[in-house]
Amino acid sequence: MKIQVINGPNLNFLGKREPEIYGTASLAELEAELSAAAPGHELQFFQSNSEADLIELIQQCFETKTAVILNPGAFTHYSYALRDACATLTSAGVKLIEVHLSNPHAREEFRRNSVISPVATAVIAGLGFDSYRLALIALTRD
Ligand code: DQA
Repeated sequence: MKIQVINGPNLNFLGKREPEIYGTASLAELEAELSAAAPGHELQFFQSNSEADLIELIQQCFETKTAVILNPGAFTHYSYALRDACATLTSAGVKLIEVHLSNPHAREEFRRNSVISPVATAVIAGLGFDSYRLALIALTRD
């Protein structure tokens, strides 16, 4: 199965960025761990700080009917454009799992709302890298 893992803004700084919240491991380490956890599956990885890049990739996933694991970073909380792209995908029956390293509900008020969650297939948050691993298990189980 082909799965696209997408990380949004500031997640290229994993390991350097607020390690007390996001941990000390890098994005490259996360991607290597996920690849190792899904033998026989084709995982593709992408990170961008740009909303347009994320939307364009999700549109490509619509065309190819590719399931997505998405950490939208701070776009989670306000990007209606990203939400619309996600809705296009999931309303066509393609799975998109929203993941977060931290538990946004246990943090600042502005993080408590996700504009993505209502159009996501599922949401997994607060488990560090395990949020992604569990999303992978759920997608590859089908
Ligand atoms: C995050 C949570 C967001 O609120 C934040 O803006 C991020 C990372 C997480 O993985 O916990 O960039 O999505």
